[in-house]
Amino acid sequence: MCGIIGYIGKKNSIPIIIEGLKNLEYRGYDSSGIAYLKDNKVSIVKEEGKISKLESILPKGISNIAIGHTRWATHGAPNKINAHPHKVGKITLVHNGIIENYQELKKFLMEKGYTFKSDTDTEIVAGIIDYYYALDEDIHVTLSHLKDIVKGSYALAILVDGIDKIYAVKYKSPLIIGITKDGYMLASDIPAILSETNKYIILEDNDICEISDTLNIFNNYKKIKREELEYLDSYDSALKNGYAHYMLKEINEEPFLVDRLVGLLDKEKTINLKKYSNIEIVACGSAYHAGLVGKYLIEKYLNIKTDVYIASEYRYSKMFYNKKTLFISVSQSGETADTIASLNLAKEHGIHTLGIVNTVKSTIARLSDEVLYINAGIECAVATTKAYSLQCLMFAILVNKCLKKKYNLNNISKHMESLLTFDYKKIANKLYKKEDIFFIGRQIDYALTMEASLKIKEISYIHSECYAAGELKHGTISLIEKDTPVISIITDNNILDKTISNLKEVKARGAYVLIVSSINLDKYDDLYDDVIYIDKINDLVEPILAILPLQLLAYNVALLRGCDIDKPRNLAKSVTVE
Ligand code: AGP
Repeated sequence: MCGIIGYIGKKNSIPIIIEGLKNLEYRGYDSSGIAYLKDNKVSIVKEEGKISKLESILPKGISNIAIGHTRWATHGAPNKINAHPHKVGKITLVHNGIIENYQELKKFLMEKGYTFKSDTDTEIVAGIIDYYYALDEDIHVTLSHLKDIVKGSYALAILVDGIDKIYAVKYKSPLIIGITKDGYMLASDIPAILSETNKYIILEDNDICEISDTLNIFNNYKKIKREELEYLDSYDSALKNGYAHYMLKEINEEPFLVDRLVGLLDKEKTINLKKYSNIEIVACGSAYHAGLVGKYLIEKYLNIKTDVYIASEYRYSKMFYNKKTLFISVSQSGETADTIASLNLAKEHGIHTLGIVNTVKSTIARLSDEVLYINAGIECAVATTKAYSLQCLMFAILVNKCLKKKYNLNNISKHMESLLTFDYKKIANKLYKKEDIFFIGRQIDYALTMEASLKIKEISYIHSECYAAGELKHGTISLIEKDTPVISIITDNNILDKTISNLKEVKARGAYVLIVSSINLDKYDDLYDDVIYIDKINDLVEPILAILPLQLLAYNVALLRGCDIDKPRNLAKSVTVE
């Protein structure tokens, strides 16, 4: 949701914070700010808009201690007043998360004489810490009490007037400590520290850190140690490697990553899905769409009833668990609040849980009984591509492992290379000025078109809807007129003629029809305006091939529209609030 960062050490903290914030912008970027300690005084600079705006107004100067923040607004408009850091009394802090009881706390503080400038929940947390710090006179005691007073989720980096240290508190929002050769960093996520170090520690809930030239971690008043980890990919892996956008780089990584994941899990003993009578897959957004692909594969090949739920709905729905239910959460970040809440619900009912996750040791990874990493590496583009494709592949691998007669999943990459070099500009030119784009498909192709439709919306801001092919004629077909684009995926021979007849219905009304297909459509060449063929291999692999052209098509359409492809408006990479 937001990104926080801190640095304390021998180097000038300000450029380190700015560099780190730039690598956290994918978590939200409607405003940003920095607080730095100089001559025993905390100075705050913050600005609406992207980090580059903040950078342009920063005073020249040296400081060895600073904290920073890049924001995706939850409480209060995305403006300078609501930007972090917030300072109340002696306390200056930045926050990622959401405080659920902030109104009650605000009322309590105002009765004590506090006044507030912003509409944020974060400023209230600073007030609470300041109030109890004045009573406790020991910041450790105050921070240890926080969990009894503040409800919600928070990763905090805190400066205290008169103390040359950074304090950090972690509860339900991610927070890591970077160990550099001349100091320490703290950050919401790994990209923020990689310019300085690849050594990091993942903090656990209720960890409190006191950082100076040493790092002390406390939990429940006891000093503790946390495992020191090393991030194996290089800093460059998080950069663009010469591509115009992170998204283009990440799509081009798919062939390598697909083959790598198949290889990594080839000998690995993974969960046996056949042990379960029914499966519940819970996720949000694109991860939910990947879950739908998983459903079709699991039900078709393993004959196990599989239901897929949007996490924000699931957590308020009636549960019908039995002891042989398997709960699978799918999440790139592993920090999506609604998915975490749903996972906790399943755990409360004693249901076995599997996490299909990208971010190592993320909350979902650590809460799940079992975790399978998709190993997609850092995904910096806010709109997911490689992670979604690898989530679909993970389901294919798990199904394949249960089959007596296994499909060959090796070298899928050789079927992807030609799709990377296809000229999408020609088709994109026909689409980029449209106001609406419709997607239709049946069964697994329907699930795939959901993701394709979301991609177009997310990065090109063109309105798009996805329909079960057979459903269009029950109303929405009234929207189809001359040159309305309708895009379809056809990979299933069994329903080819049905989808063809649905496409004939829209073609008859003048639609522009594009088909992505693994089946030769020569005999229907009057039906479509453009076709992109993918290789006919098998149902497990074709979803990963079918989505690739539509990811690249969305990219090219967004390019023509001059959109901010890696950081689309209003979006954040990890939605850690409900
Ligand atoms: C971003 O492109 C996705 N469209 C977004 O919907 C994402 O899939 C969703 O927010 C879930 O995120 P997660 O995979 O990190 O849980």
